[in-house]
Amino acid sequence: MELVITDNAAEAGVLAGRIMADHVRRGARAIGLATGSSPLGAYRELIRQHREDGLSFHTVKAFLLDEYIGLPPGHPQSYRQFIRDEFTSHVDFQDWNVHSPDGEAAEIPAAAALYETMIDENGPISVQILGIGANGHLGFNEPGSSLASRTRVKTLTPKTREDNARFFDDDLSQVPTHVLTQGLGTISDAGHLVMIATGAGKAEAVAAAVEGPVSAFCPASMLQLHPHVTVIVDPDAAANLKAVDYYRFAVANKPDWQSY
Ligand code: F6R
Repeated sequence: MELVITDNAAEAGVLAGRIMADHVRRGARAIGLATGSSPLGAYRELIRQHREDGLSFHTVKAFLLDEYIGLPPGHPQSYRQFIRDEFTSHVDFQDWNVHSPDGEAAEIPAAAALYETMIDENGPISVQILGIGANGHLGFNEPGSSLASRTRVKTLTPKTREDNARFFDDDLSQVPTHVLTQGLGTISDAGHLVMIATGAGKAEAVAAAVEGPVSAFCPASMLQLHPHVTVIVDPDAAANLKAVDYYRFAVANKPDWQSY
C-alpha cells in the first residue's frame, strides 16, 4: 500500500485523476467509479485531460460501486444520474457503457447477481476509485460486512444516512434506507484500488483502515489485503496516522521507475 499525503484536497483530486488517466491510456477495458464528494476532484482532472489532452473513454466501460434502492426513476441523487451529471456526460463515454446496480429492479437479489455477471463479463476493472465513510465503509459495505462479500443489499447505518442527508436537502426522511453495493470481495477483484479521503471528518476512519487491524468492523481495512493500493489524503485526513514521517519519506524518495 502506498500512502500519499498531498498539500491540500485539490492536489489529492488531481493525483487520483492522473492515476486513473494512466490506466485509461494504458488501455483499461473497464474502470470503477464512486459517487459522493470525495472523487469529484479526480473527475474534474479527467474531464480536463479529455478536453485539453485528448484523453478518450470511447471504448471504456465503467462500473459504479453502488446505488440507492427505491428512488424514483431519474432522481438527481440516484448514483446513476449523479455520475452522468458529474463526470461521464462531460467526456466521450458511450452512455450504454456506464453501468450501475439497478436499484429500481422488481427483483433486487436478481439485480445484484446480474451486476456481478456484468462485471465478470466486461472486466477486469483496472482501477477502482474509492471514498471512505466516516464509519470506515467502502462502497456501502457498512461495518460488519464480510470481507469476502459480493454485490448485495445492505441497510445503511443511521450515521451514513445522516452524512448523506446533505445531498437530500438535509432532509433525513428522503435518504433511502437500503442500497445495492458491490461487496468487498467484488471491489478487491479490481487491479488497482485508489482511495481518496479529505477533511478532518475522515481522519479516524483513515487511520483505522490503514493502520488498524483488518476487521469487518472497519470495512476499508480490507485494503490491507490487496496487492495494489494507493491511498491519497490531505493533511486533515492524515491527522490520526502514526507513520506520517515514513509515508512522506517514501513518496519523497520514490524512484523514477516506480509508477503509482
Ligand atoms: C459512494 C460510496 C461511498 C462514499 C463514502 C464517502 O459511491 O461508495 O462509500 O465514497 O460514503 O462519501 P463522501 O465522498 O461524500 O464523503
